[in-house]
Amino acid sequence: MSALPIDPASALQWQAMREEDLADVAAIEATVYAFPWTLGNFRDSLAAGYQCSTAWIGRELVAYAVVMLALDEAHLLNVAVAAHWQGHGIGRRYMHHLIESARRQKLDMLFLEVRPSNAIGRHLYATLGFKQLGVRRDYYPAVTGREDALFLGLNLDERA
Ligand SMILES: CC(C)(COP(=O)(O)OP(=O)(O)OC[C@H]1O[C@@H](n2cnc3c(N)ncnc32)[C@H](O)[C@@H]1OP(=O)(O)O)[C@@H](O)C(=O)NCCC(=O)NCCS
Repeated sequence: MSALPIDPASALQWQAMREEDLADVAAIEATVYAFPWTLGNFRDSLAAGYQCSTAWIGRELVAYAVVMLALDEAHLLNVAVAAHWQGHGIGRRYMHHLIESARRQKLDMLFLEVRPSNAIGRHLYATLGFKQLGVRRDYYPAVTGREDALFLGLNLDERA
């Protein structure tokens, strides 16, 4: 890895996810999730026309996200930061980027699911203004069977 920029989050450059990124995306995915998406899941997301984006520091892919649009709503299906870049503000910066993108597209709501056990994700989303809208029972696979998902939404007309 190259020398750490003073503020990694402000060094991010955005790019649409490309076919040639998929191996690196899937490699990050496999290290940050216990139950990762496969490379094929990302390829299917590209083929389906989902908004698949990547964040780069120099020539290194450091984070990615997949957003599905439906009518006036966006659903964040996946967001992740490479393990050795976590905790430097990149996830928060990426969420701001996605929220601003959704607002530019005049969308009303941004939805996502998060595991109750994902304390970092829950803290991040709560401090961005997401509200819990429901619980999806047994939504995720888990080591001990299944885990619920918290279903969160951000009203894009409201400023957090
Ligand atoms: C969740 C995730 C995207 C956050 O990205 P990140 O770059 O690590 O997060 P940031 O550095 O922007 O920090 C976001 C907040 O979490 C806190 N945080 C980050 N790492 C933390 C850690 N190891 N322990 C405690 N808090 C932590 C930060 O303090 C920050 O809060 P603050 O701004 O109020 O201080 C990232 O950790 C990740 O990819 N996790 C694995 C995949 C995942 O869970 N994706 C989300 C699925 S819903």
